Amino acid sequence: MQTIISKDIEVATQILERGDIIAIPTETVYGLAGNIFDDGAIRKIFALKQRPLFNPLIVHIPSINNLNDIVEDVPIKANKLADAFWPGPLTLILKKKSAVPDLVTAGKPTVAVRIPNHPLTLQLLENLNFPLAAPSANPFGSISPTTPSHVFGYFSGKLPMVLDGGNCERGIESTIIGFENDEPIVYRLGSIALEEIEVVVGPVKVRNKKESTPTAPGMLSRHYAPNTPTHLVEDVSDFIAHMVGEKIGVVLFKEKIKEGHHIHQIVLSDAGNLEEATSRLYAALHYLDGMDLDLIVAEKFPDEGLGKSINDRLERATKQK
Ligand code: TXA
Ligand code: MG
Repeated sequence: MQTIISKDIEVATQILERGDIIAIPTETVYGLAGNIFDDGAIRKIFALKQRPLFNPLIVHIPSINNLNDIVEDVPIKANKLADAFWPGPLTLILKKKSAVPDLVTAGKPTVAVRIPNHPLTLQLLENLNFPLAAPSANPFGSISPTTPSHVFGYFSGKLPMVLDGGNCERGIESTIIGFENDEPIVYRLGSIALEEIEVVVGPVKVRNKKESTPTAPGMLSRHYAPNTPTHLVEDVSDFIAHMVGEKIGVVLFKEKIKEGHHIHQIVLSDAGNLEEATSRLYAALHYLDGMDLDLIVAEKFPDEGLGKSINDRLERATKQK
């Protein structure tokens, strides 16, 4: 199969309507998308990603008007969050309507839903008369794609189309929030900082545990990982000081460390801006992972705002296999 990279929404629409799957851009990362009501399409997503069937998918809808088609009993705080952040990188886990297939939700009584904030994908969703289930467009366990070429690298020849929406603005996955007794609980740190969430709904619990068998799936301890052995450390210079002859890739927040011949450095934001750093994180890991290095060393980020989300991803990327 030839994989085309194109901005043509009509072609994308036709492929999805015939029950096939494509990669779609979102503001967070690229997704692997198919019709939630088409059993065959959903199975293709799981198969291509090599994702276990117990790990449910996120449903993408074009507008808040479509929410009641798939969920019921929306808590007040869920409505507040939706009003504040949709379209945007917030995923809500809500009680599902029976119309939503069990395959999509892995048999759970809840469904994960969001309105992505990307003009091409919003237009595509408007065109279609079904929502799109879309996990991140990477093989299970590897780094999520933030450019069309990342997706192409993973799935060239195995996917008819990558809808080309350029580089993802936010660069890490959506923040996932579920509810217990109508109170919000953060299941995955993501593109929206906790502090921003708390402005809208007050203090929230975080249950972002790193587990080897997922109870809240997707919280697998090793995830988002490069193939190159990767380390997360407080002080990079210190960590690599005594290494001789090793080819090292370094990911830093705002400042380079002292030059060395054997090291390749990427500074994520010269200005020290966490949004900018977040948007460039995965591209930096993809790049370094393609350089045939002996190891990658990342600096720990400030434990505030999006720094928490970055540290979360780097911790998962550095877990041993
Ligand atoms: O930014 C994003 O959220 C991207 C873009 C494409 O929208 N999607 C994404 O999907 O990151 P995925 O499948 O890679 O991660 C979704 C996470 C998984 O960890 C899954 O276990 C969890 O959401 N999830 C989905 N439905 C759930 C549910 N009903 N209850 C608990 N967790 C759920
Ligand atoms: Mg993923």
